[in-house]
Amino acid sequence: MTANNLQAVDSSSIVPAYIYDQIADALADKGYCIFDSLLPGEITETLYQYVSSLSASDYHAAGIGRQQQFHLNHTIRNDETLWLEEENATDNIYLKWMTNLRSEINQRLYLGLFKYEAHYAHYEAGAFYQRHIDAFKGKSNRVLTTLLYLNPDWKEEDGGELLLYSSSEESTNEVVERVLPTYGKFLVFLSDQFPHEVLKANRDRYSIAGWFHVNS
Ligand code: OGA
Ligand code: MN
Repeated sequence: MTANNLQAVDSSSIVPAYIYDQIADALADKGYCIFDSLLPGEITETLYQYVSSLSASDYHAAGIGRQQQFHLNHTIRNDETLWLEEENATDNIYLKWMTNLRSEINQRLYLGLFKYEAHYAHYEAGAFYQRHIDAFKGKSNRVLTTLLYLNPDWKEEDGGELLLYSSSEESTNEVVERVLPTYGKFLVFLSDQFPHEVLKANRDRYSIAGWFHVNS
């Protein structure tokens, strides 16, 4: 299916309401949730075809922070990223889906999620992203992190796991989830609660990382 005819799909009718209830309940209870697959298969497939068609020169070396705060630090991360743009038909499908997710979550949790930004990330063999937190309390308006993985046939030996550490201050070194970046897997977690890292990938690894912000 092409990007253009997918835009006609009303994503709100595809995912049943109870799934959004599950997301909201999980966020309220433990601060994160993980689905082996959540987005409609055609959307995942379209995004996968798109990342597969990109070449290395389409991406930029990933930095820490955005705009004024942006700086490169290859000892912390050495993936490459490409921001999604509304004007791009494929990006738009994902961004629309996230707009819908935002309103479903806002209706249930009153988080006041406002805008959303996301980038494709490509980790070449050998790439990693050291332990970090996406938002520091009071220092950022990032509230929720989303991750979608686009790696068919990803196996244990391919590495590249996402380690999610405990949100409690007494046990932040405890790994609460070890996530293989398998095709279609989707995560949401509270951005200021969960330190996480990407272990060294042993082959090309693709993800879309995104953040819902509050208006500040
Ligand atoms: C990030 C991040 C994890 C991943 O970009 O902040 O933590 O699995 N990405 O791509
Ligand atoms: Mn992160």
